[in-house]
Amino acid sequence: MRKKIVAGNWKMNMVLSEGIELAKSVNKHLVEHPTEKATAVLCTPFIHLAPVAEILKDTQTGLGAQNCASEASGAYTGEISAEMIKSAGAQYVIIGHSERRSYYNEDDSLIYKKTFLALKSGLKVIFCCGEVLQEREEQIHFEVVKKQLLDGLFNLQKEDLKNIIIAYEPVWAIGTGLTASPQQAQEMHLFIRTLIQERYGKEIADETSILYGGSCKPSNAAEIFSMPDVDGGLIGGASLKKDDFCAIISAI
Ligand code: PGA
Repeated sequence: MRKKIVAGNWKMNMVLSEGIELAKSVNKHLVEHPTEKATAVLCTPFIHLAPVAEILKDTQTGLGAQNCASEASGAYTGEISAEMIKSAGAQYVIIGHSERRSYYNEDDSLIYKKTFLALKSGLKVIFCCGEVLQEREEQIHFEVVKKQLLDGLFNLQKEDLKNIIIAYEPVWAIGTGLTASPQQAQEMHLFIRTLIQERYGKEIADETSILYGGSCKPSNAAEIFSMPDVDGGLIGGASLKKDDFCAIISAI
């Protein structure tokens, strides 16, 4: 049975003291109300990682970064390597988020390099894909996602896929309040799973968790998560509020 995962993407929100408070309150809730059905992951800004790792130590809650460098180490001023993320106590990293693709011009080959290095450092990768509104309106959303997977992910070896989690995030639904319908999410998730099956075989396809992201909130999470190929969510805005994030976890 593949894992259900609810990952919070804090993005560039909260100063350190606020992040620590949020991590403590989410952690307290999850320790008091453990759920075997889903793994919760907090993806924090880089500087929050080490102190939040201390808070989450010896718990079931995972910790992740939101990006990593495309080089392993060296003279890359201002960059943070996958190995550093791992050494700070994280187990996950988000790669290929649409905000990185659009604001920082990250293309599929760069995303592949980052993914490769993250896996090599022992991190699990939450690999994001998804189309923008115009691409959906032009009905080329399946092609767009297929290309992102082919060029950004499918050069990996079969054994690497065990540490890949895919997040399908239609860009038009991120932070906009618009959500893909459960049917729209399901058809894309099934499409992605079919592509994985064609490339890596049925066993890997069946085991790969595919998360939905884009204005997921307590009021719509249960319906989206009930779709057979939706294995949880990548949650932005709603992950900044303890009650909302915990309610979304419970919706699994
Ligand atoms: P949102 O963000 O939940 O605020 O739409 C999701 C994401 O960008 O991962």
